[in-house]
Amino acid sequence: MKKNIAVIRGDGIGPEIVGEALKVLDKTAELFGHSFSYTDVDMGGCAIDKWGDPLPEEMLKKCVESDSVLLGAVGGDKWNNVPGNMRPEKGLLRLRAGMGVYSNNRPAKIWSQLASASPLKKSIVDKGIDFIIVRELIGGVYFGEHKTDEKDGEKVAVDTMSYSESEIERIGRIGFETARKRNKKLCSVEKSNVLDCSRLWKKVMHELAEEYPDVELTDMLVDNCAMQIVKNPAQFDVIVTENMFGDILSDEASMITGSIGMIPSSSLGSTSCGLYEPIHGSAPDIAGMDIANPIGTILSAAMMLRYSFDMPAEADCIENAVSAVLDEGYRTADIMPAEAADYKKVGCSEMGALILSHLERK
Ligand code: IPM
Ligand code: MG
Repeated sequence: MKKNIAVIRGDGIGPEIVGEALKVLDKTAELFGHSFSYTDVDMGGCAIDKWGDPLPEEMLKKCVESDSVLLGAVGGDKWNNVPGNMRPEKGLLRLRAGMGVYSNNRPAKIWSQLASASPLKKSIVDKGIDFIIVRELIGGVYFGEHKTDEKDGEKVAVDTMSYSESEIERIGRIGFETARKRNKKLCSVEKSNVLDCSRLWKKVMHELAEEYPDVELTDMLVDNCAMQIVKNPAQFDVIVTENMFGDILSDEASMITGSIGMIPSSSLGSTSCGLYEPIHGSAPDIAGMDIANPIGTILSAAMMLRYSFDMPAEADCIENAVSAVLDEGYRTADIMPAEAADYKKVGCSEMGALILSHLERK
């Protein structure tokens, strides 16, 4: 199969981790007889430096016209003082909105090899951590009005959150469908004791539940959910929630699995053209040092094969290679245990090379 992938290396550690993922994609294509071509896209701080815009229109066009997009990470201290609508992150938000990818799927699954890297007690980890956060990605406060005015001699900032029934319904359906393919438990997370948006969210979820009688729907307030994720993560199968709650809860969920550096994500809308990115940021403090963990990006590439290109065997091949390398005790710094005797610490490029050498077509 021929596929064209738009590649956004971005800022900070982005170029290093994406470089490793592309090598893995190339070798997988070779093993399975596919041909992947890549279109480079500038987005984030590097695009501000080059074009004066975090996502120029023609760059967005390249993404929309591709078969899918692979992204490293954007942002960094260097662009902290540019106006809000010109920040590197704004490029990412415009990309998500421009591609219409309203559904962001963030798995929180502990790799058995990394159980000791979890900050949670062994008794909690042993009960199992395997759930998915389905995050609404192109609505809510992220896309509301943002402004800072002068009032009564001081600055007043306003950010508005809004959700329509149809926006809630389409992400709700993804939540129910995802749960249907797993253990049929969906937890809808909101703040309906305070927010109108959340009350509407809850109403729509319960209306939808009638169409999915095989899925058990529960409601949870977001503050309680933050607590339950560390107290008893085994209770969750699929969580569906709005944009900002999903942003926050998915960082928390990633951490209990050992390292945010391991977690991939997929974002999809109404077509098969998706956006695939690790959930971590650009980590400018370690950029260029060859110590970043490329696994989140490599697993994002695997998700692209599975969900956008319908290549499950190819995705399995990549995930199995990652698992084999972890089995052999190789670890990047972020997942290196304190008791290091049985482990071998490797850098970003070495981890990529190891995964590459373990790719095999079964
Ligand atoms: C994420 C990130 C982004 C978000 C930032 C970089 C805008 O934190 O993908 O989780 O908040 O969505
Ligand atoms: Mg985030």
